[in-house]
This record gives sequence, structure tokens and C-alpha cells, in this order.
Amino acid sequence: MRNQNQTPLLDALKACTTHAHAPFYTPGHKRGKGIAQPLADLLGTKIFCADLTELANLDNLFAPEGVILAAQELAAEAFGAAQTWFLVNGSTCGIEAAILATCGTGDKIIMPRNVHSSAIAGLILSGAMPIFLNPEYDSVLDIAHSITPEAVQAALQKHPDTKAVLVVYPTYYGVCGNLQAIAQITHQYHIPLLVDEAHGAHFAFHPDLPPSALAAGADLTVQSTHKVLGAMTQASMLHVQGDRIDIDRVSKALQLVQSTSPSYILLASLDAARQQMALYGKGLMSRTLELADIARRRISQIPGLSILQMPNLDQTRLTVTVSGLGLTGFAAEEILDEKLGVTAEFGSLQHLTFIISLGNTASDIEQLVQGFMRVGSGEWG
Ligand SMILES: Cc1ncc(COP(=O)(O)O)c(C=O)c1O
Repeated sequence: MRNQNQTPLLDALKACTTHAHAPFYTPGHKRGKGIAQPLADLLGTKIFCADLTELANLDNLFAPEGVILAAQELAAEAFGAAQTWFLVNGSTCGIEAAILATCGTGDKIIMPRNVHSSAIAGLILSGAMPIFLNPEYDSVLDIAHSITPEAVQAALQKHPDTKAVLVVYPTYYGVCGNLQAIAQITHQYHIPLLVDEAHGAHFAFHPDLPPSALAAGADLTVQSTHKVLGAMTQASMLHVQGDRIDIDRVSKALQLVQSTSPSYILLASLDAARQQMALYGKGLMSRTLELADIARRRISQIPGLSILQMPNLDQTRLTVTVSGLGLTGFAAEEILDEKLGVTAEFGSLQHLTFIISLGNTASDIEQLVQGFMRVGSGEWG
């Protein structure tokens, strides 16, 4: 067991910000001295002291052997992986790399028809051939869920030369398909299960959340640490376990899709977010689940509104069906945002979906509930 209190990358970055010297390297703003004033007015100057490049003490993202390696190893342990890569271009580059690392031109990969655009980009870059499966579809709620183990089984029987299976887990609505069963079926064909877990980076930290993709048997998973945990926007992770993934090919693929000048502010935010979850994750997730539960109970009591509930749902993801009020999700989204100071993650024809995370407070939840009470009563003008 490593000491999860450590933050090797964050510490090294902090040390570099206080080291007095004349800088003759990128970035051109030279630790904020040359930054445009309006940007300094918005952000202050301190942040630019940490906007550094690959200095000797800061390691190299593409060949880590110092503080980045140490930070990635701590993350691997905290998230339950054998190996972890920090990403500075979101899950987008992780999913592209996952496909590039497992499929070449003409190779078959099974994936849901409604995959994120990054998987389509991965197909274009690799030349892999998609075997698209339709996800389960709830026609009453107009919500697409996951692909089923039965559909994966049938596709593999029909295409036994498939090179990988890619699953979205959880969906944007927080719905988790039967990943354990899909992993078992996939592994019978000796091929890897790749998971787009962009919205599930918190799963490993609380027993009342769905099992993480790695716990369910995935070989490779990509998480947007920035979407649901405390990392900064774009900061994500790719995790691997077992022996079905070629580690070297993942590293090479990530070099294809990422900048050679990664932001150390983003990288350090991953180190800090990992430490936060390793030390306090269970408590933070208990509180987040409690807040979500309060929102769920109170909003479901408002006439005309109902809450998406189903087995294997991430309970921190809240989807409110507003069609019973005679409104579309888009209209309700606009009213809440423009008139009532409540901004949703996204609206759809019948619903509004909210991400409740470790950054939300009881007063956010109160504002959300009050907002829906006013929408429900028609008194928002
Ligand atoms: C299901 C899914 N996968 C992948 C991504 C890409 O993640 P990122 O924004 O971290 O690049 C998103 C982003 O919205 C997503 O919703």
C-alpha cells in the first residue's frame, strides 16, 4: 500500500513556482510576467507561476520516470488499476487511444450505436470497422440505455474475429448496464473490454454507487476525472488491468492524440483529485448521495414531476421528467437557467438531467428544489 497522502506532482510543481531564476523556455508569458492584463484581472497572477512546461523536475508525460510516474502509480492504486495514464485532452483522447491501441485498419470492434463522438474519431483514426449494436431503448421515456450482454453475445457469435468490445458505462443518464456479464462474454473470445466511463470516475469510492468498470472486469477504462470529481476541465485518466491490453501500444497511441506540451496545471489537478478521493472519497460520496437523495425525494413530491428510477442507476445523477407539466425539457431548462438561477447538465424532450457531485452544497439542492416548485406552480415570471 502506498501512502495516498502524497502528492508528488503537485509538490514538484509547487517547488518550481517558488524557485527564483531567469526563465528562457516556454510558455512565453514567463510565469505570468507577460500575461495580458485582462486575463490577469480575471484569474490573478499566481496561477500563471504554475503554468510551466516539462522542466527537469517535472518529468515527461510521454516517458514518465519521476513525479508523473509516481502520481500515476498512486492513481492506479486508488482507482483499482494495474496502470494509469494521466490525460490532458479529456476522455476524448483516452477513447481514441483505446481504439488505436486495440484495433488496426479493417479490424472489427463492437460498440453501441450511440457512442460518444470520440469513439467515432477513434474509428476514423484507426480505420477499424464498427459493429454497431442498438442500445436498449425506453420508448415511453425516450431514453437510450446500454447494450445488453445478449446483444454482445450474438454479435460475437456472428463476428468471432472481433478485436475489442467498447461499452459506455454509465450512460449520460447514469444508467449502468450489466458490465460483469459483458466482460465475461467478451473474455470468452480472448479480446479486451474497453469502457467509456467518462461519467463514472467516482464509482470506486462508495459501496452504494455502481461497481467501477475495473471492478466489473473491464480491461481498459477511460474516466473524465474532471466531470464528476475535483480535477480541472480536460483532466482525465485511462486505467488498465490484466494482460489483454498492450501497454506499449496505449502509450504510443496517447502520444498520437495529445499535445507534447501538456498543461501541468491540469496534470497536478489529477494528482490532487486522486489524493482527495483516496483520503476522503467515501465521506464525500456519502454526502453527495445524501444530497441527491434529498433532491430526489423532494422533487418527486411536486405534482407533475417524476424522477428517473431504475436498477443499476448512479444515484448522484438526477433526471427529472417534466412532460407532466406540459413543458419540454428544453423549455424547463431555459426557465430554470434564465429565471431561477439553476443550471442543468442537459435538457432533452421530456427530461432535465443534473449532475450532483462532491462540489454541490445543501443550498444548491435547496435552490434546485425551490426552482422546480416554482416551475411546477407556473410562477416563475
Ligand atoms: C459518454 C461520454 N464519453 C466521452 C466523453 C468525452 O469526455 P471529455 O469531455 O472528458 O473529453 C463525454 C463528454 O461529454 C461523454 O459524455
